[in-house]
Amino acid sequence: MEPSEEAKLSFSGPIGVFDSGYGGLSILRRIRERLPLYDYLYLGDNARAPYGPRSFDVVYRFTLEAVRYLFARGCPLVILACNTASAKALRSIQRNDLPLIDPTRRVLGVIRPTVEKVGEMSSTGVVGVMGTNGTVRSRSYDMEIGKLYPSFTTVSQECPMLVPLVENEESAAPGADYFVKKYVDALFAKNSDIDTVLLACTHYPLLYDKIRCYVPEGARVVTQGEIVADSLADYFVRHPEMERRCTRGGSTTCLTTENPESFSRLARIFLGEEITANHIDLV
Ligand code: DGL
Repeated sequence: MEPSEEAKLSFSGPIGVFDSGYGGLSILRRIRERLPLYDYLYLGDNARAPYGPRSFDVVYRFTLEAVRYLFARGCPLVILACNTASAKALRSIQRNDLPLIDPTRRVLGVIRPTVEKVGEMSSTGVVGVMGTNGTVRSRSYDMEIGKLYPSFTTVSQECPMLVPLVENEESAAPGADYFVKKYVDALFAKNSDIDTVLLACTHYPLLYDKIRCYVPEGARVVTQGEIVADSLADYFVRHPEMERRCTRGGSTTCLTTENPESFSRLARIFLGEEITANHIDLV
């Protein structure tokens, strides 16, 4: 028998946070700083990362599997802490899948909250976006920025080597400079009036120092963690019925589809504290 609407609304659980790999931990870190009382269940699909070069259909299928898994583990709310998944899967999941799975649950992404902040940041109205091939080719940022700020120009740069550098623990290595400089130079060669560079991939905060080094001084480099955390806090104020369903035990549980020991090692850098991850299979 299907649970009643009332029963569905009365269950509570941790906030689910999903990314293709480690990147979403950069978002989780800021969310936990902003909203430390809640329980969090993080899932990194490291076994199938990177998502960036994958097709719409595949990213959608993988993301839906992750969302279903997090729902099955009791999450009333799931944050797609991944731009690629937000760009390629969020809308379909919200429109087509959620009404069938459970219309009382919610899945939120990272693109809209980031774009909402862009207006306050840019004076020239020229915004640079660095992201995965998937995010850039989806044109999600161009479209969202165009909707909210029609006079703005969005200039994007695909950065396909950056996620593999992070996932392979090479983000601090001198070899990473070559690719970071190449992508930053290519971005500014398209438009030198860019005054705001969005790091539109949750893996890129690990490369922040290197990216900052090559971006011209007058331009700001924006990471998403605090923006998404503020937006979630605001969401809870506007949706107390969802806030009540998120349990408050202050715990964080991390799951990975790959090797949990490697995950735990790198996760420490992202989260700023020791964690022990567990392995799960999504299929
Ligand atoms: N962290 C993901 C993002 O924000 C990385 C995507 C990937 O796996 O390529 O886009």
